[in-house]
Order: sequence, then C-alpha cells, then structure tokens
Amino acid sequence: MLCFKNETSLKHIGTQDIVTERFFLRKFQIEDLNDIYNNWTSDSEAAKYNAWKIHSSINVTKEYLNEWIKQYEKKDYYLWAITDKKSKEVIGSISASNIKNKKLYCEIGYTVSRKYWNKGIATEVLINVLNFLTIKVGFKNIRAYHDVKNIASGKVMQKSGMKYVQNKKQFFLNSEKLVMDCCVYDYKT
Ligand SMILES: CC(C)(COP(=O)(O)OP(=O)(O)OC[C@H]1O[C@@H](n2cnc3c(N)ncnc32)[C@H](O)[C@@H]1OP(=O)(O)O)[C@@H](O)C(=O)NCCC(=O)NCCS
Repeated sequence: MLCFKNETSLKHIGTQDIVTERFFLRKFQIEDLNDIYNNWTSDSEAAKYNAWKIHSSINVTKEYLNEWIKQYEKKDYYLWAITDKKSKEVIGSISASNIKNKKLYCEIGYTVSRKYWNKGIATEVLINVLNFLTIKVGFKNIRAYHDVKNIASGKVMQKSGMKYVQNKKQFFLNSEKLVMDCCVYDYKT
C-alpha cells in the first residue's frame, strides 16, 4: 500500500525546554507554587486584562498547578514557566492553546510578574516561543488577542513580529469579563 506523508501536518512534541538570552522556559513543577502565587495569580493588575480571575488563596493556584502538570502528559500541550536564568525565580508564563490541527493554528497568551514589567521580557520570550511553534511544531497561523486598553501587550506583539489584523469582540468564559474589546494580531509563516 502506498503511503503519502502529509507535509502540512503539525508535529506535536509537547512543552520542550527553550533557552533565551536571559530566561529558561520549561514545564511547571510543584516547587513553583509560591512564585506563581506571589508573582501573578494573586495580583489583580496582572489579571486585569486577562481571561482569568485572581486566585483567592494559594490553594486555588495549587489546584491549577496540579492540573497543568497533569496535562504535560499530552503531546499537544504547550505551557511554559518563564524562569530567570540567574535567580531561578519563576516570573511568568506563556502558552499556546485553542489548537486547530488542520488549520495549523493556535493562540498564544502570556503573563509576566508586575515587578519585572517593561524590561523586554515578554518580547524576548514571545519571539522564542513563536520560533519554537513555527519551526519545531509546524504552526503556520498563530493568533493573539489583547484588550484594547492593554497597550503594553500590543507593543509586545508588534515587537515580536506579529501583524495587527482587526479589532474584535472576544467572548471569555470568565464570570467578570464576558466580553472584551480586543485587538487581534497574527503571526503567519
Ligand atoms: C503585557 C505584559 C506581558 C508585557 O510584559 P513586559 O515584559 O513588560 O513587555 P515588554 O517589556 O517586552 O514590552 C512592553 C512594551 O510596552 C510599553 N508600555 C508599557 N506600558 C505602556 C503604556 N501604558 N503605554 C504605552 N506603552 C506601554 C513598554 O514601554 C514596552 O515598549 P518598549 O520596549 O517600546 O519601551 C505584562 O504587562 C503583563 O504580564 N501584563 C498582565 C498580563 C497580560 O496583560 N498579558 C497579556 C494578555 S493579552
């Protein structure tokens, strides 16, 4: 029987380590709990323009963290802890979600601890993750949304080579923010 290789399919390899100039991107582990809670899940400013609500206690973060770790068994699960190479502190996260295999499509989202904003961190990390997702996995259409008021996130997308597409109302399943006015950015290869 003849078999033809589909040249346009994704090669899922899961959340692999990525090394950038200042950061080490890796899977979350249970020891990261305090950093995650202290650095962003308890911070209303970090949650302000995001689809998630702040966590009312560290136990909520622990439940999420356990679920993330469990999901790493899947080859199509992409969620990285952003760790500082020098201090080893976990200072944020970046993920690819809503994967559509046939369309070679996914959506990207990221958060950096408020203590470290405006130091080029999200941009450095996003550039490296876009490279990983396109070169190593084969995504050709990567999309990101940001609240129209979240100017910093729009700058990160622009500086990382993503192109503005349009403004759109995006529906989130968050009880506080059902609808957000968003800017849509695409990265196509
Ligand atoms: C959005 C976020 C990830 C940016 O992370 P970061 O590491 O600070 O990003 P960078 O330093 O790479 O780039 C931020 C850019 O926005 C600019 N900026 C920040 N606040 C700004 C503002 N209010 N108005 C205009 N520009 C602003 C910075 O000057 C910088 O641009 P520059 O390099 O040209 O000076 C971070 O603020 C965050 O985690 N916010 C909470 C979660 C979130 O909103 N995630 C994105 C959801 S779409």
